[in-house]
Amino acid sequence: MQNNTHPLGNISLSVFLQEFWQQKPLLIRNAIENFKCPISADEMAGLACEPDVESRIILEHDGDHPWQCQHGPFDESLFSKLPETHWALLLQSCNVYIAKFAKLLDQFRFIPNWRVDDVMVSYAPFGGSVGPHTDNYDVFLLQAQGKRRWEISTHSYAEADFYPDLDLKILRSFKAEESWELEPGDMLYLPPGVAHHGIALNDCITISIGFRAPNEYELSTALLDEVLSQQTTKNDLDFYRDPNFPLQDNPGEISAWALRRINNMVNQTLSSRIQDSDWFGKYITETDESTETLESKQVSNMTQQQCFQMLEQGQQLVRNECSKLAFFRNGEDRIHFFCNGSVAYYPIDLLDLIRLVCNNRYPSIASLIKVLDNNERQLFLCNLINLGHFYFEKDCNDSD
Ligand code: SIN
Ligand code: CO
Repeated sequence: MQNNTHPLGNISLSVFLQEFWQQKPLLIRNAIENFKCPISADEMAGLACEPDVESRIILEHDGDHPWQCQHGPFDESLFSKLPETHWALLLQSCNVYIAKFAKLLDQFRFIPNWRVDDVMVSYAPFGGSVGPHTDNYDVFLLQAQGKRRWEISTHSYAEADFYPDLDLKILRSFKAEESWELEPGDMLYLPPGVAHHGIALNDCITISIGFRAPNEYELSTALLDEVLSQQTTKNDLDFYRDPNFPLQDNPGEISAWALRRINNMVNQTLSSRIQDSDWFGKYITETDESTETLESKQVSNMTQQQCFQMLEQGQQLVRNECSKLAFFRNGEDRIHFFCNGSVAYYPIDLLDLIRLVCNNRYPSIASLIKVLDNNERQLFLCNLINLGHFYFEKDCNDSD
């Protein structure tokens, strides 16, 4: 990623990563020059009525209780019944449904793709907000339309600082340390744990580029699932052994000595799995069911020649936003290629091509043509197209 293509203003990528990422907030005025909001409030209301789109409406005062959160899909008629002020509409994963948001996400590729979660878009009239809260993940809050005041606090809050029994985790004792009014194109970066409260000052649309940070429970579950899914016969397994067993007084006791051996055995089993990249690559590229459904609509049956010709004609190839791809370099000679929860192995001479398809949602046509100089590489790309992981832009209704 070139330093001059990022939306971080005067801060270089290396300074951002060393001094701000995961550490402290950063306000970037005019992060994206002449920024035009890619969506209108009406379009957002339309999407909130679609069953595939995850949507929420938050009512600060006018619900059955304060900060009521309702989940979509919503009926169109609801929008005319909403109060004038103090509510917010939130749409998750807009990068999946709207190409402009997917392209926006491409400006944040200085963080690896596997760390990116989604693009959430919120609309709020005057006073609307989701309340003061903290998040467990990093977020870039890009002001897209209207004005929003962001108040933040780096104080560390405990469970007791949140209201009990609300639909949302809202801080009751939030005291702003700093605040800024953001206008279209301005952006605020927040690391995990920094409390924030964004209040709409007029009709306001904010885009949140949110990152994914699996927690220790999710990671251990994924690792254990992988261990359990392996076909093993009893002959492959190590069984507990205890030579030099120290004589113990109480046969009813589980001794500390035995427990240490048991824990060592389990730790060794798990750490041998951790050495293997595949469980993590498969886990982190897994997609949920609804995105797989979208993906299946794109499947085609092209030949290698047809794919290559389309590229030569200058047709842009686009990665399906529902497809999660990543690669791991295993030493000097093998690549582990992860695609929506599965793994395949390729020789290192596919590295340039694999890099192109994994790094970029819109890989450069010229670079693709350059690397597609043998049958194996052409076949690799053609398979990705036929399985729906890539499509030619003209096939897409919503290309810009
Ligand atoms: C919003 O867009 O109103 C909320 C975003 C956030 O707090 O993370
Ligand atoms: Co937040």
